[in-house]
Amino acid sequence: MENEAKLTAGAMVTFAIAVSALVILPYVQVRDVKAPEGLKPYTSAELRGRASYIANGCVYCHSQQPRSESFAPDAKRGWGRASVPGDYYYDKPHLLGSMRTGPDLMNIGVRQPSKDWHLGHLYQPRAYVPGSIMPPYPYLFDIKDKAEPGEEAIKLPPGYTPPGKVVVPTPEALDLVRYLQALKRDYPILPPEPQEATGAKTSSVAPAPRPTPAS
Ligand code: HEC
Repeated sequence: MENEAKLTAGAMVTFAIAVSALVILPYVQVRDVKAPEGLKPYTSAELRGRASYIANGCVYCHSQQPRSESFAPDAKRGWGRASVPGDYYYDKPHLLGSMRTGPDLMNIGVRQPSKDWHLGHLYQPRAYVPGSIMPPYPYLFDIKDKAEPGEEAIKLPPGYTPPGKVVVPTPEALDLVRYLQALKRDYPILPPEPQEATGAKTSSVAPAPRPTPAS
C-alpha cells in the first residue's frame, strides 16, 4: 500500500511541476502584455480571411514567428525583425505554426503588398514560382465566361487562364488576401532612442568624457 501512495504522490508532484512550468509561468510572463501602438486590430473582413487561413491549413506549412539573429537568419531572409509577445495581441488563436515548408508569413503584407499577386498565387502558385510545392486553391475561384458587374477577373501570367474564360475570386479569396496584406509587424517595438540637443544621433555606447585639463 505504501508503494501505491508514493507512486500517486510522485505522479502528482510531477504533474504540478509540469503545469507550473508550461502553463502558470508563461501565463504570468505574458498576461500584462499590451498591444504595440503601431498594431491595428483586424477588420471583420480580415478576420474572415484569418478563419479561411485556418480552414485551408496554411498554418501547417507557414510559421508566423520570425526569430532573432542568434537563432536563425530570418531577418536576412526578409521575414522581418524577431517577433515580440505584443505582436500577437489580436491573434486568437495564435498561428505561430511549427513547420516552415514555405516562408514565414508574419510580415508578408510588407514584402508582398500586391492583391493581384496574392490572388494569382493562390489560384496557381506555379504560375509565379516555377516548381513551387504549395498547393493551388482553385475552389476559392469561379471560372466563368465573363465577369459579372461588380466582379473583377484576376490577371494571371500568360497561359494560366482557361481559354475563352475568366477567373473570378470568391469573396473568401478576397478576404484571405485582405488578411495576408494585413500581416505587417514593421512598427518600432522599443521607444525611440533619446536624441542629443544638437540633434546628432546618439550611439548606444556613450563616448568617454574628455579629461578636463588640470589648471
Ligand atoms: C504544402 C505546404 C503549403 C501549404 C499548405 C501552403 N503553402 Fe504557401 N507556400 C508554400 C511554399 C513551399 C512556398 C514557397 C514557394 C511559393 O512562393 O509558391 C509558399 C509561398 C507562399 C507565399 C509567398 C511567400 C513569400 O515570401 O513570397 C504566400 C503568401 C503563401 N504561401 C500563402 C499561403 C496561404 C494563404 C496558404 C493557405 C491557403 C498556403 N500558403 C498554404 C507551401 C505551402
